[in-house]
Amino acid sequence: MGSTDEPVSHKPRVAVVFGGRSTEHAISCVTASSVLAALDREKYDVLPIGITREGRWVLAPDDPEKLAIHGGELPEVSASAQAVVLASDPTRRALVVHEPDSAPRLLRGVDVVLPLLHGPYGEDGTIQGLLEMAGIPYVGAGVFASAAAMDKQYMKLVLTGSGLPDVPHVVVPPRQWESDPAAVRESVASLGFPVFVKPARGGSSIGISKVHGSGELDDAIELAQQADPKVIVEAMIEGREIEVGVLESLDGGAPDVSVPAEIVVRGEREFYDFDAKYLDDATRIDVPANLPEPVVERIRQLAAWAFEALSCEGLARVDFFLTSAGDVVVNEVNTMPGFTPTSVFPRVWAASGLPYPALVERLVQTALRRRPGLR
Ligand SMILES: Nc1ncnc2c1ncn2[C@@H]1O[C@H](COP(=O)(O)OP(=O)(O)O)[C@@H](O)[C@H]1O
Ligand SMILES: [Mg+2]
Repeated sequence: MGSTDEPVSHKPRVAVVFGGRSTEHAISCVTASSVLAALDREKYDVLPIGITREGRWVLAPDDPEKLAIHGGELPEVSASAQAVVLASDPTRRALVVHEPDSAPRLLRGVDVVLPLLHGPYGEDGTIQGLLEMAGIPYVGAGVFASAAAMDKQYMKLVLTGSGLPDVPHVVVPPRQWESDPAAVRESVASLGFPVFVKPARGGSSIGISKVHGSGELDDAIELAQQADPKVIVEAMIEGREIEVGVLESLDGGAPDVSVPAEIVVRGEREFYDFDAKYLDDATRIDVPANLPEPVVERIRQLAAWAFEALSCEGLARVDFFLTSAGDVVVNEVNTMPGFTPTSVFPRVWAASGLPYPALVERLVQTALRRRPGLR
């Protein structure tokens, strides 16, 4: 790479990338706020990069406060005067900054990226592909695992293909809903009501409805389609919601699994929806979950299994239903789980002996050790 306008630094440069084009833009900003506050500045040269809702990459202010939730108001990345371009050419590990009315400015390259993006265009393999092309190590799952875990249809195929238990469901491709809605209604009815209708590639419960009878189905499918043209409908599982954190092992062994948490949704909320996740206090999170030891063991075993089945790297949160009959089924795998200090993932790790800053440090270290290319 050519010379840059920057003073020489020997600290590894960590780019924290957040925001993005998905409906989870704001949640990603909140996550970035906490991670920026936790990164050890003595050790790392931290570069915050925001992606606006339109997909514009900008140098963002290094100000965790600006990205937090204030009085129910959700944060967002605003287009700044400084657009930044990450070269996809691995022989030129440069960042180019474009400011109006001045020549492009070259910044020293990035040593590791923390792609704190949730949902499509971030958690789904797209930014991971860009970083692979650029030869830059990054935190978290690679292209395939990210894409497969993001798409509930393929996540289920991989997990059941590996022998893991999951939830009975029907996939509704957009073409089928257009051409033969009666067939869709019939196959959904065979699941038995209530059902959960979801965007296939969604998150944070955005676009999800609990459907109590056939009369509510069409509206629910159309709502889900606003987030993703491909929709998935699942039989409702009666039971408890249990989540665990998984971390790639530092010594190449089996992944580490945290203590489990239980999500207890109270009050009038029918399930763990967006408001219950982020905005109100109708949800209680028990860490650790109050469960008999054999159930904890089973959950930990299935979580490590799911992590490996999808070839996850770095981190994942695996979410389960514990049915009233005592069976454990996987609901989903999140390759970039919510990551604020009050989110489930950091809390289960804190309860397992890894406080927030140490968790961030471990993720960065895992990524820095990783060789780019096929692995
Ligand atoms: N099959 C199901 N049975 C019972 N509750 C469900 C089911 N699917 C989803 N839910 C409820 O909806 C929430 C969000 O669903 P989930 O599939 O985890 O979507 P997201 O990826 O948006 O988090 C779950 O945490 C749970 O409360
Ligand atoms: Mg979920």
